[in-house]
Amino acid sequence: MRLTRWAEQPGSWPNLKLATITSFVGPLGLPAEIDRFGTVACVAMGYGVATMVPIARALKDVGNKVISIVWGQTKDTLFGHERLASVSDELIVATDDGSYGSKGSIMDSLEELLQGSERIDRVIIIGPTCIMKFCCAITRRYGVKTIVSLNPVMVDGTGMCGCCRVSIGGQTKFACVDGPEFDGHEVDWDLLMARRCTYSDEQSKQLMYQCWHCAQW
Ligand code: FES
Repeated sequence: MRLTRWAEQPGSWPNLKLATITSFVGPLGLPAEIDRFGTVACVAMGYGVATMVPIARALKDVGNKVISIVWGQTKDTLFGHERLASVSDELIVATDDGSYGSKGSIMDSLEELLQGSERIDRVIIIGPTCIMKFCCAITRRYGVKTIVSLNPVMVDGTGMCGCCRVSIGGQTKFACVDGPEFDGHEVDWDLLMARRCTYSDEQSKQLMYQCWHCAQW
């Protein structure tokens, strides 16, 4: 439905003609857990910001205080933060070079928030695997329940190929049907990153992208 509406807006997806959308499958997996937790920190970067917007909105609608954190290398690489701000009680922005918001990493912003006087009842993180891993290491130290949205390599997206398998608390789960949200403190991050990076050499060559936070690079 959403795709169709975007495609109907002239110029929104320039190369996508409405007629090219013949079918799609979804939603897959389980819905985000929305409940009244108290104060929730929504940590998002990259495409994760788009995913976080409806989650933050739903959390706020049921009475949570939502503090969102976004990060970009520079001001120009940030996107979606205005929309996230519109569904949050507070938005914290950080950039690597300090061109917008505070200077530093998203982990710095998260830790600063956790060190502050405001009690944080839950953290939700959507972003690159390595960032989620490092953020979870921080929230573990503060004892704050943390939910992550995992993005392993997927093939069929219906629970049949096994490509998206992840280990959660020692149990094998399929992110496409059992997730994508899991307890970040239960995830076997090393296994996930090893599987996620299987094609990373080729991918980085194609995208000219390098994840500098990942110890595997
Ligand atoms: S993508 Fe195939 S089982 Fe999840």
